[in-house]
Amino acid sequence: MGRIIIFTGKGGVGKTSMASAHALHSAKEGAKTLIVSTDMAHNLGDIFEVKVGKTITQVVDNLDVLEIDPNYMMENEFSDMRRAVSNMLSSFDMSLGTLEQLSIFPGMDELFSLLKILDVYESGIYERIIVDCAPTGETLTLLKFPELLSWYIEKFFPIGKVAMRILSPVSKVIFKIELPDKAAMSDIEKLFIKLIKLQELLKNSRITSIRLVAMPEKMVVEETKRNYMYMNLFNFNVDGVYINRILPRDIDNEFFDEWISIQNNYIEELNSIFVDVPTYEVPWFDSDLSGLSGIEKIESAALSGWDVFKVNDVQKGESFETVKNGYLLKLYLPTVEKKALDMHESNTDIIIKIGNYKRNIPKPNALRNHTISGAKFEDQMLLIALTKG
Ligand SMILES: Nc1ncnc2c1ncn2[C@@H]1O[C@H](COP(=O)(O)OP(=O)(O)OP(=O)(O)O)[C@@H](O)[C@H]1O
Ligand SMILES: [Mg+2]
Repeated sequence: MGRIIIFTGKGGVGKTSMASAHALHSAKEGAKTLIVSTDMAHNLGDIFEVKVGKTITQVVDNLDVLEIDPNYMMENEFSDMRRAVSNMLSSFDMSLGTLEQLSIFPGMDELFSLLKILDVYESGIYERIIVDCAPTGETLTLLKFPELLSWYIEKFFPIGKVAMRILSPVSKVIFKIELPDKAAMSDIEKLFIKLIKLQELLKNSRITSIRLVAMPEKMVVEETKRNYMYMNLFNFNVDGVYINRILPRDIDNEFFDEWISIQNNYIEELNSIFVDVPTYEVPWFDSDLSGLSGIEKIESAALSGWDVFKVNDVQKGESFETVKNGYLLKLYLPTVEKKALDMHESNTDIIIKIGNYKRNIPKPNALRNHTISGAKFEDQMLLIALTKG
């Protein structure tokens, strides 16, 4: 089974450097590896010192690189999916011109990056796919998009019924939308299936790992905590944290004493948060790290001696359990405070809101006639009881 390892973190912390070091390390182990960048500001070509086009390019033995241009993917590889999205939007009375017009669905352009990753994964060519992402917020938008879009499709297009080629008159009346014709519908169905596959792939902790890159300083630590919490809110498996740019402890210069002590405090804080998650420390090098030799520095300082591609199934993740009076939905939400949590329900969903993020967790079909009868938040676990109401 192939592995997908996704690097995320605050801007400038070292995501691309770390992803590249892993890619090189993987190739040296003899595993066929692809490093993919979903960050529009690509720089893998600079790092590996090769000219990278819009398609897969080889860098060294066992290592290929791809800088995804979602526009190119949309036009050239996924025109059926483009049509599906276009048809969906036109039924909401919108037209698909450029990707910018899709900003109504933030993350729509990233969809085409994910579709490419799914295709590459399914081709089975690569043992490992290393993904270098844009900074935190965009990564989250990217990762939660399949769930968000499939939620909309399910709400507005009666997919179950579409499968039987019956269009629901109800949605026409309630949502005042013109359902697309049959041919278009089958594109939307195809898209829907891809979205479900993507969720299964990205949330499968045996396949996909999220790795957070951090630095021992206040702003980065705060963002890393939030990122960790949101990844858990959406049920992604964070199974590794890299603390980058650690100053050498043996500098004999007063100027650095204070900095070293600050760094020590934040390293301690990170270690106390990521108790179950492996943390890797990466030194601050005396020059920046472009080129293969720079990447090799990280590799030998931080990656050798570890099985960095091991699945660390540390996820306390989301589960629905049967209990005496109904069901219990459990959700691990590290670092969040109880007062920041907001929760309510609709007929079909349980809605959890933390800060700027909201997640709609659809009630499984069997639980549609259940309602929330109680909730508590203990040891960073949110427990929601659902009973037949
Ligand atoms: N441990 C380190 N020691 C010295 N320089 C480093 C270290 N880690 C990263 N750098 C340098 O810091 C700069 C930013 O690193 P990198 O591009 O990997 O970060 P990023 O998180 O991908 O940034 P962005 O958010 O812009 O994509 C680069 O010039 C890189 O060479
Ligand atoms: Mg980068």
